[in-house]
Amino acid sequence: MEHNEEGCSYTWSEVLLKTCEAAAQLRTIGKVTVRETTLKKIGIKQVKYGVLDKHFEVKRFALLEMIKVVVPPIWSLEMKTAMTVAYNHLVEAIKEEMNSLP
Ligand code: HEM
Repeated sequence: MEHNEEGCSYTWSEVLLKTCEAAAQLRTIGKVTVRETTLKKIGIKQVKYGVLDKHFEVKRFALLEMIKVVVPPIWSLEMKTAMTVAYNHLVEAIKEEMNSLP
């Protein structure tokens, strides 16, 4: 899946932000909620570009590796687990949205 530099960095920061938001929500309210319009927007783009299950797996791995390399001081096993759980919740919501699109 190819993007230009701009599209790529935008998407990465969005994914990181959304995953952090999801982790914070899990901590405070015990579940992940994403605004319906936001979810729809993301779902439409992912379907348009043909994002598949395996891409979400690769992105999760890359996201975690990126955090490890870019911000080593905050890296820990607990943090990795928390981000993995949060990311998986997010992906579930996105996939549900993708499947419900016409
Ligand atoms: C939790 C996982 C993910 C989140 C939160 C996420 C979030 C987003 C957001 C917010 C956008 C911008 C939507 C818009 O412009 O309206 C986007 C676009 C996009 N995403 Fe994702 N995404 C995720 C996973 C993936 C994966 C696994 C791939 C494929 C490897 C992917 C590929 C793309 C592409 C190609 C775009 C369009 C970029 C552009 O318009 O330049 N995303 N994503």
